[in-house]
Order: sequence, then C-alpha cells, then structure tokens
Amino acid sequence: KKLAVFVSGGGSNFRSIHEAAIQGSVHGDVVVLVTNKPGCGGAGYARDNAIPVILSPRTKDVSDGLSSTDLVTALRRFEVDFILLAGYLKLISVELIRAYPRSILNIHPSLLPSFGGKGYYGMKVHKAVIASGARYSGPTVHFVDEHYDTGRILAQRVVPVLANDTAEELAARVLHEEHRLYVEVTAALCEERIIWREDGVPLIQNRE
Ligand code: GRF
Repeated sequence: KKLAVFVSGGGSNFRSIHEAAIQGSVHGDVVVLVTNKPGCGGAGYARDNAIPVILSPRTKDVSDGLSSTDLVTALRRFEVDFILLAGYLKLISVELIRAYPRSILNIHPSLLPSFGGKGYYGMKVHKAVIASGARYSGPTVHFVDEHYDTGRILAQRVVPVLANDTAEELAARVLHEEHRLYVEVTAALCEERIIWREDGVPLIQNRE
C-alpha cells in the first residue's frame, strides 16, 4: 500500500512508521510527506530520505502551498491509498475526507474522547490530563472526520500518570507508546485487517 504522512513538527511518529516500512513490519511505502511547515523536523527527515515533500495548505507563511483541490490531485498522482496524520496541526479539508473515505487516520496523545478537540494539542493535552487528576492517559488512533479529534476510535494504549509527573515526562511516556501503536495500526491497515462493525465502529483483526 502507498502511504502519505502529514506532519507539522518533529515527525518522530513519521520516522517510526517509515523505519517499519523499510524494515518490512509494515507492508507499505511512505511515498509522500505533506506539511504546512517546510522547516519542521519531519520535512527535514523526508528530504534526507528522498521522500517527496508537498507543502499544504497555502497560507501567508507557505505561499507556495497547495490548495485542497490540488492536494487531492497530487495525492492521486502518487497513487496514495492511506493518509496518516502524525502531528499535523491543520484541519483536513472536506474534499480530502470525501476523496479518501475510511482511509485517513490521526494519532492523538490522550485517551479520546477525553482531552481532545480544538485547543488540545502538544503539551496542553498533557497539562490538562495532569491537572484533572486522571491516573491514566495514552494515545488514541482514530479515523478522521471533519472536526478535530471526533472520528471513530480505532485503537488506544494506556500509560499511567504518575503522582509527580511533569507534562514533559508524561508526554515522553505517551509518545513512546504512540510509536508502537501507530506502527501496529498502520501494519493492520496495509494488510486490510480493519473491519467495520455494523454500528460503524472499526475493529482490528489479529493476523491469522
Ligand atoms: C504526537 O504527540 C501526536 O500524538 C500529536 O503530535 C505529536 C507529534 O509528535 N498529534 P511527532 O511529530 O510525531 O514527534
């Protein structure tokens, strides 16, 4: 399968998926990287690894970025099967969602539906978890719909929140699980091991 990864930041999830694809535990190829931040770590990693980089959307900072229509055209040209959002901080266009039904995933660093939605990104998520007194957190992988963090939940992992955690310590513990979870889910996606329950809930089947 052909994968497009979307990033705005450091790109450690992108890197772990790309490494898994090269090493063979994910039966797919990252064929293109999409970013709204051409100078971000993820874009640098793509360039170092000869992965084409597309800038999108067009903004005043990214004046050579692609519009949503042109982005769909470009992804089609790369024959992209699945889109993985990995720290991409822009809302995905309705056009893209319609062009890739049930084919766009996002990873979020909390146990959705808690601590999700607009405003919950980066350290803000982990600060809010700690302030709430919640004893557990962890990443969620979900399908993407037209809003922030509300699409169908596909997979989650639990990590403890320790009594004296800083947001940075909790973030590192969650991120470690993100890397494992996103690779496992991407492997399932590429092997067509995702099935949809009648009520619209997606489930991952184990390998035979
Ligand atoms: C991760 O915590 C992810 O859950 C969130 O943004 C962060 C991206 O980290 N959406 P990285 O760029 O993959 O290192």
